[in-house]
Amino acid sequence: MTEKTMTILGIAGSLRRESYNRAALRATQQLVPEGATLEIFELDGIPSFNQDDEAHPPAKVAELKARVRAADAILLVTPEYNYSIPGVLKNAIDWASRPSGDSAWHGKPVAVMGASIGMLGTARAQYHLRQVFVFLNMHPVNQPEVMIAHAAERFDAAGNLLDAQAKDLIRQLLSNLIAWTRLLQQGQPERA
Ligand SMILES: Cc1cc2nc3c(=O)[nH]c(=O)nc-3n(C[C@H](O)[C@H](O)[C@H](O)COP(=O)(O)O)c2cc1C
Repeated sequence: MTEKTMTILGIAGSLRRESYNRAALRATQQLVPEGATLEIFELDGIPSFNQDDEAHPPAKVAELKARVRAADAILLVTPEYNYSIPGVLKNAIDWASRPSGDSAWHGKPVAVMGASIGMLGTARAQYHLRQVFVFLNMHPVNQPEVMIAHAAERFDAAGNLLDAQAKDLIRQLLSNLIAWTRLLQQGQPERA
């Protein structure tokens, strides 16, 4: 029996036009193994979270929740701001986790990667994200850890990822995410 194509939803936590993380996510689309597709959701246009509006969120948040729900797995590509998760990404995570009992993230397999101009390649932001996954009940892939350090040297002016080692790690991360997702879906009823 042929397996159905797996949909991965990729979200980069930067709005910057020349963002390394958005570029890394675009580069990742070229590295997806057969049998899976990687769609990109851009976070621009999502307002600051206001709990007064959580039951009737803005259209872009409703779209985010629908896209997360429709995906088999999630790939978060995070920058690191002040040793942690950028507000843009955390804000989107918070919106899609609400209202209580209606989180779009619940039970989703997830992989993390990130690029920073610093020497630790978003390590601290990634570990903070992994802490957030505990409360969201997401299922993270542990390895490989894809931390693209010194990002200014790893991309060309057009945003192409040049680093062969980073590309190998990304391929492995995707492959592990796909295998992990299939494992988690085994025994669960087929989704409509
Ligand atoms: C508010 C702010 C805080 C930052 N803090 C960190 C940090 O803690 N660690 C780090 O490696 N880089 C830090 N940087 C630099 C980012 O790595 C760099 O701006 C990177 O390009 C952001 O990702 P992007 O290119 O996807 O937008 C910070 C940048 C900003 C704007």
